[in-house]
Parts: sequence; C-alpha cells; structure tokens
Amino acid sequence: MPPRPGVARPGGPSPTDIAPSPSQQHALREVFTPTRPQRSSRRVSGRQTELLRIFRAIALDRAHVVLYGERGRGKTSLVNLVASAARSSGYMVGRYTCSFDSCFEDIVRGLARDLPKSMLAAPIVQDDELEGCEAALPRARVQPRDVAALPGRLAGRHVVLIADEFDRVEDSATRTWFADAIKQASDRGAAISFIIVGVSDSLEELVGRHPSIQRNILGLALPLLTDTEIDEILVQGGRDAAIEFLPEVRHAVVNVARGVPYVAQLLGLHAGTEAIARASPEVEPPDLLAAFRRAVDEADPRVAAIYQGITGGERDRGMLESLRAIAAGEQDRYARFIVSEQEGVHYIADHWLEPGAWERLMDTGTVRACRSIGPDCFAFSEPMLQHYILMREALDRGLPLHNGGAFG
Ligand SMILES: Nc1ncnc2c1ncn2[C@@H]1O[C@H](COP(=O)(O)OP(=O)(O)OP(=O)(O)O)[C@@H](O)[C@H]1O
Ligand SMILES: [Mg+2]
Repeated sequence: MPPRPGVARPGGPSPTDIAPSPSQQHALREVFTPTRPQRSSRRVSGRQTELLRIFRAIALDRAHVVLYGERGRGKTSLVNLVASAARSSGYMVGRYTCSFDSCFEDIVRGLARDLPKSMLAAPIVQDDELEGCEAALPRARVQPRDVAALPGRLAGRHVVLIADEFDRVEDSATRTWFADAIKQASDRGAAISFIIVGVSDSLEELVGRHPSIQRNILGLALPLLTDTEIDEILVQGGRDAAIEFLPEVRHAVVNVARGVPYVAQLLGLHAGTEAIARASPEVEPPDLLAAFRRAVDEADPRVAAIYQGITGGERDRGMLESLRAIAAGEQDRYARFIVSEQEGVHYIADHWLEPGAWERLMDTGTVRACRSIGPDCFAFSEPMLQHYILMREALDRGLPLHNGGAFG
C-alpha cells in the first residue's frame, strides 16, 4: 500500500503506521457540516434567545417574523429549530426555499404543498393529484385573501409558513403581495404566521417598506455567535467525533471565525481531517495551519481576486496592514465596523489608515457602506474576505492570532 500523506510528529505514531479510521472520518463529517444547515438542537450553539423571541412572536402575538443577516450566519439552522419546536407544539409548518424566479404564486403554492395532506379539512379544489394542502388554494391565481383564508380550510390550530432565501426573489411585486397577505391575515386575526428569511442588512431591504404591517412584524437581525459559542462548536463537535481540539487551536479558530458559525464548521472539519489522517486523537496547531491553507486555496475566486487586487499580490504592505487591522479590529455583533475621519485621516478602532487607503477600499468595492445602519458604519463587501485575510496572515506569521473583540 502506498504511504498516505500526513504530518509525522516526533515521538508520535507515523501516519503510515496507523490507518486513519474511516468511521472516524465519517463521524467528523457528520459533526462538522460547513455545507449543511444544522438540523438538531444538540448541534446548534447558542440561539436560545432568538428561538424564544421568534416563538413568542408567533405564539403570543400572532405576529410574523422577518429573519435577516449575512450569508452563513445560521439563519436556516435557526429556522430548522423553530420549525421542529413549532411542530412539536402542534403547529402546522410549511416551508419553501425561494429562487430568483419565484413569484408570490409559486411561494404560496410551494408552502401549501409542504403542509401534510392529512391537515386538509375543507379543500376548494377536488384533485387527488395535488400535493400536501394545495387543494386548499383556488385553481385561479392566488390572492392575498386566499392566504388569509388558508387556516380555515385546514384541521389544526395555527399555520407557520417559512419562506427561506427570500432575498433571491427578483420580482419586487412579490414583496408587495406578501405585505398584503400579512395585512389581510392580521386584520382577520387568521391563525397564520409567516417567517420570511433572507440575506440582508435590514428588514426593509428584504421585504420592502410597508408601514401598514410594521406592527405585525418582528424584524430580527441574526447576530454573530459569541466567541464562547464558537468555541462550543469545537468542544462539542470534538466530543462527538472523539477528537480533541487543543486550546490554542480553539483560540485561533475563534479569532478567525469572528462569530461566523460557517467558518468554525469549515475549520473544524479541515483541521480534524488532518489530525485523523495522522492518526492523532488531538488537533494541533499544524493541523489548523493546514486547514487554513486548504480553506485559502479553495476560497471563492472572487474573494481571492479582491485580495490580490487591492494588495497588489501582497506587495502593498501598507494596504495589507490596513486590511489586517480592519479584519482583526473591533466590530459590532453583525461584523460591521465604525470608520471615523479626523483631518483627512481615517481611523478604524485605534488604527489609522495610510493616506488614500480608505478611498481605494471604497472605490474598489472592497468595503461597503451600511447606510441603513449609520453614516460611519461599514462592512466588507464579501463577508468571507475578512476570514481570508486572517487566515493568510496566520499562514504568513504563524499562530497565535489576536483580534480586537466586539463592541455594541
Ligand atoms: N448556531 C450554530 N451552531 C453551530 N453551527 C451552526 C450554527 N448556525 C449555523 N451553523 C453552521 O453554519 C453554517 C451556515 O449555517 P446556515 O446554512 O444555517 O446559515 P445561513 O445563514 O442560512 O446561510 P445562507 O445565507 O448561505 O443560507 C452551516 O455549516 C451550519 O451547520
Ligand atoms: Mg440559509
């Protein structure tokens, strides 16, 4: 058998002596799932506050929820928890994942189809071919009032309809139709709640501005996880995969992830794979550096291109230091940072940027303004760029890494 690639350790078993157990690899892949939202509450770190708030809004206030945030922050994982908690409390739950060409009709029919057929009490269309509870909707074009009437045609107390990836919907009329449906459902006191989920900085950006329904909606911006919650992903995941992430490794993952669960999942998987490949029960710093290398090599080409372009292939050391300072600097719970200007000099936290650097960051679209939040509030345009910068820095300088923590 040819030798397997791996990192030999002095005094430790050579990777060629001990075969990595395929079942351990399998266990690791079950535990660290960067490409899959979480399904079980056991694997969800934090999010109890958000779960409770959403549940209260639905159960006590009969309100609707708009859950928004950046990519990979855990929106779908959270609504998975909400859906299973709602089902176990006797709610009927229908879900639909939108795409760019979804319209109101597609989404509402998709949601109705996802409700179990056994819930259909008073169909208005007689057609056995129709899936789920679609027969509770008219054959003609669906109107907002048909949505408000839906619970009356179903056996059960309250319907929860979850539309995920709503940001992908391009048709702006769909947003207005949803606002109308929410308005009519609320006015009638219908036992139906929408949970609309998508990538966005603000509620208005995701669903449009509709003053008439503001009172009926809980807008929830999904915050980053805390450092302790990120650490918990590695501790709990390591326990379940029978592998231990050493404290210095966990510390570095926390500093690179900066509250983003996707990054913790990705690095947990890659670093754990390295340790298993060398048959070690412990994940050590060289495993994490190899994980950084892999994550950098496999990063979205757009992120790599922005980084190469703005730093001139890392030759522009001033820009590189500025980027590193921003990436490791103080941020709020949504990865946004404050930039202040004094006499033409731009400051981010305690770091001042060299002349022209800020203008270039803005002109190249590396950084974007979060105007709906505040005039001096900014974020990286590509959220993964921040982690890319930090991982490259670690590959350049080695561990440990430090960051400026959080504010707000
Ligand atoms: N609270 C959490 N604890 C542990 N892992 C989490 C948590 N939230 C999300 N994850 C993990 O983070 C990654 C992204 O999660 P998820 O798909 O839920 O995010 P999202 O906000 O819906 O992303 P997108 O905007 O791309 O749809 C997944 O690997 C998921 O398993
Ligand atoms: Mg999602």
